[in-house]
Amino acid sequence: MRVGIIGIGNIGSIIADLLIKQGHELFLINRHANKLKKFEEIANTYSDVEKLPEVDALFLCVKPQDAPGVLKKIPRSKFRRLFVSTVTGFTIEEITSYVNDDVTRIMPNIPISIGKGVIGISYSKECSKRKDEVQKLLMPFGKLVEVDESLLPAVTALSGSGPAFTFVIIESLVDAGLKLGLSYETAMKLIIETFRGSAELLEREGKHPGELRHLVTSPAGTSIEGIYSLEQQGLRGILMKTIFDTYKRAIELQEI
Ligand SMILES: NC(=O)c1ccc[n+]([C@@H]2O[C@H](COP(=O)([O-])OP(=O)(O)OC[C@H]3O[C@@H](n4cnc5c(N)ncnc54)[C@H](OP(=O)(O)O)[C@@H]3O)[C@@H](O)[C@H]2O)c1
Repeated sequence: MRVGIIGIGNIGSIIADLLIKQGHELFLINRHANKLKKFEEIANTYSDVEKLPEVDALFLCVKPQDAPGVLKKIPRSKFRRLFVSTVTGFTIEEITSYVNDDVTRIMPNIPISIGKGVIGISYSKECSKRKDEVQKLLMPFGKLVEVDESLLPAVTALSGSGPAFTFVIIESLVDAGLKLGLSYETAMKLIIETFRGSAELLEREGKHPGELRHLVTSPAGTSIEGIYSLEQQGLRGILMKTIFDTYKRAIELQEI
């Protein structure tokens, strides 16, 4: 497939790396040429959006404030391209006012870089008929979760920003391990495998987390002691407020 990507920053370059590995022919556009250097041998590179040739699919990966200027300059296509936007807060309706393409909006998270991301996705009405094509294109990124476009800020709060929260939580737990005398490597291994194993068990069993939590909490044992401490310190409230504050910020950014 001929795939264009406009904006080779954090997200655009990850998407480019993944699509090159899949054997797509890439057309990469970035304002400043320095970010295109590493792709010069393996992709077609341009610093001007107006130079974009005919492509089958086009990713838009610029900051929201740059999106209108870029969209105005995208050359029209003879065919309806698959148009995938990562731009936070820029609606499908706004995008389709500039381009005559089949538009989807995605909210990826950073583990897409190893093919283990989760992507919130919303399709325009026209693009709903081409879900198979979009899914095939995005499959190497990780799992797709379709949501109504109005819920994308909630996806931003939960899974878009989620890796940042997860890293802070893991770092705190590793520090606790260090305080108890474990080495950094040992503590990190214990925590990573605990997160991975717990998440996989939850997914495989398909049970409510409270049910599994109950199974590992024996009377007068260590786990109930820790859970009592968590509840006293209000961990659930802290985590929920974190997500609500992030959601509010995602909504604010949408309105700028
Ligand atoms: N980072 C994430 O984890 C993440 C996750 C989900 C969604 N998003 C969304 O994805 C979008 C991109 O985020 P990012 O973190 O990748 O931003 P970024 O690192 O700032 O990348 C944006 C790129 O767009 C380029 N650009 C801006 N205007 C251009 C123009 N007129 N022509 C060509 N290139 C232009 C910039 O080039 P110069 O540097 O040369 O100016 C920059 O390399 C944002 O809307 C963000 O909200 C990001």
